[in-house]
Amino acid sequence: MSQKIQSVKGMNDLLPVEQKDFKLTAAFWQAFENTVQKWAARYGYRQIRTPIVEQTGLFVRSIGEETDVVGKEMYTFADSNDRLSLSLRPEGTASCLRAVVEHGLTHEAPQKLWYMGPMFRRERPQKGRYRQFHQVGVEALGFEPAQIDAEIIAMCADLWRELGISEFLQLEINSLGNREERAAHRAALVDYLRRHEAALDEDSRRRMDTNPLRVLDTKNPDLQAIADNAPRLADYLGEESRRYYREFKDLLDGLGIAYRENHRLVRGLDYYNHTVFEWGTDKLGAQATVCGGGRYDGLMAELGGKDTPSIGFAMGVERLLLLVREHGCLNADAAPAVFVMQQGEGAVLQAMKYAAALREADWDVLQFSGSAKLQKQFKHADKSGARFALIVAEQELENQEVTIKDLRGTHGQTTVPAAKMIEQFKLWSE
Ligand code: HAM
Repeated sequence: MSQKIQSVKGMNDLLPVEQKDFKLTAAFWQAFENTVQKWAARYGYRQIRTPIVEQTGLFVRSIGEETDVVGKEMYTFADSNDRLSLSLRPEGTASCLRAVVEHGLTHEAPQKLWYMGPMFRRERPQKGRYRQFHQVGVEALGFEPAQIDAEIIAMCADLWRELGISEFLQLEINSLGNREERAAHRAALVDYLRRHEAALDEDSRRRMDTNPLRVLDTKNPDLQAIADNAPRLADYLGEESRRYYREFKDLLDGLGIAYRENHRLVRGLDYYNHTVFEWGTDKLGAQATVCGGGRYDGLMAELGGKDTPSIGFAMGVERLLLLVREHGCLNADAAPAVFVMQQGEGAVLQAMKYAAALREADWDVLQFSGSAKLQKQFKHADKSGARFALIVAEQELENQEVTIKDLRGTHGQTTVPAAKMIEQFKLWSE
């Protein structure tokens, strides 16, 4: 026998059944996708689908060369003619904006868009962190703060409510101000870090020049005091930025949405300004951030479009669904409604016709394949999770009847004329 080929590390199969180390099933996922589609429509968002491969330059220019995502984690390869560097998308915002600029979507009116799909980052895999993971993302393009910022947060909160996980998610917010304010803070921060250079670890020393804000994010306990006493971006915000931020918080208060201000929340991608936020949980171990986003008012112009004030967020589907599976609610019943079984000459064809009639009436039907004893077919019916069994054996064939058995409820078993089959199913499902 040849050796088996394994899946790529950090990339999961979604099966009809749970796996030992990956509990999400395709049916659960599908139920989530249905919920998301309705949720996005309720807020007036329309779907956009972009390719999973883009020119590497798109991500370098938008996410930033110095970020971990672009600097270390992208799957990049040369196209066969060797002239173009391509990358698997590590996130969805850059692709979404590239498409919007390319097709002039915001020329006529602002756009509210959403997307769902696989993203790729070459991170160290562990529970909740994968190399192929999925995001649901939402982007509101062409909207000024702060109303849309609050609406976007309320939209998240609404989905958490629907999925039954509100109490397990905490919202953290911050304001990164505008470009000038960030530059002034950055200069002060670099100056401060330089004065403490001897005490920094290697990672922080490297980041000091490339991405000093990330030093404040350090997990190293020895550096907490340095991080705590560093110049705070909040102290560099001008009047306008403070007003935006105040307005945003007032709206959240008015909507009754709880949040914690985290002055160190900086996000891992470079395109943000003003409002940034993350939803985290303490139920998923180290991979605690389920959803993150913020404003990126300069990004559209950076990618060749017109200046377009914008905000968006993305949630990690795997993380979110692991949380929902453990603590929330999502109805993912993938069992057929009716299991059709047959026995005797001519029964297969007749049973196929009954199954077709049921399907036409919008019932999910699974028909037994083959001619095993009814007893064995009942075992399959049980395992399928079907609510009802439809039995077509010699007697039924002869009398043009069907036998219906309620496999899960209290109706028992009955035999009715075939013409009354659907009526009987309806009666028993009320
Ligand atoms: P992000 O924070 O990089 O933001 O990713 C959003 C979410 O994707 C994270 O909060 C996390 O739940 C999930 N995620 C990220 N990496 C992984 C991974 N390796 N495995 C599993 N889940 C992961 C963005 O991507 C921005 N594009 C969000 C945004 C949209 N900002 C504005 N618009």
